[in-house]
Amino acid sequence: MKAEFIGQSVIKLDTVSSTNSYALDLIKNDDIDEGVTIVTKYQIAGKGQQDNFWESEKEKNLLFSVILHPCFVKVEKQFLLSKAVSLAVTDFVKTEVSNVTIKWPNDIYVDDKKISGILIENTLSGNIISNTVVGIGLNINQTGFRSDVPNPVSLKMLTNKTYNLNDCFNQLCYFIEKRYKELKKDFNKINFEYLKNLYRFNSYNLYESRGGKFLAKIINVENNGELILETQQGEIKKFFFKEVSFLDVK
Ligand code: BTN
Repeated sequence: MKAEFIGQSVIKLDTVSSTNSYALDLIKNDDIDEGVTIVTKYQIAGKGQQDNFWESEKEKNLLFSVILHPCFVKVEKQFLLSKAVSLAVTDFVKTEVSNVTIKWPNDIYVDDKKISGILIENTLSGNIISNTVVGIGLNINQTGFRSDVPNPVSLKMLTNKTYNLNDCFNQLCYFIEKRYKELKKDFNKINFEYLKNLYRFNSYNLYESRGGKFLAKIINVENNGELILETQQGEIKKFFFKEVSFLDVK
């Protein structure tokens, strides 16, 4: 199980503001080969979704960004990259624990706790994606998190084992490359498997949007990232990220 290009050329940094920001600076100034990966032990200003801070104790977790050139993915279908990468992280986490799902759009959950976050930043030229920075934070050996972060968990908290970060990195790179190659060959397989692994897929649960609370089931996620819900009355509701929240009580 070894990747051929993802994570084979690595820029290792002891500390950095954010591996995504570092990668974005690199591609701004130079043509960087596909697969080049920036890895760090600690981020001073790790970026999460929606300008949140990504918490990670020094040398405890995986923090890295991979540079890709997915020119075969159309801009309007760019969420396919998120689907493929979410599946790759899921593949890796499943080698250690069960009940691993993808919470839309691309959080990786074990039961009801978040183990990994993904931040994908695309650079477009016209109708194609010229560069993608895939940023992954995966909690491995950290056992205590600040209380204001909702539901974090790590592999160690789930299995009591201490992991070698380098081995985890190599395995995860293998899965990212595998899913990325799959995406190149067959979008449909990625779509099918994303839905198969999706948290709360096809079961009725409570959601809240600007219109209020409602019961619905997830029936699809479009390749532009839109979440498609169907209510018990058969009404179809579509949401982009942050337009709807998942509520806990059924
Ligand atoms: C989320 O909020 O769920 C996304 C978190 C993404 C965090 C990773 S850590 C490595 C990479 N560099 C960053 O600054 N963010 C991503």
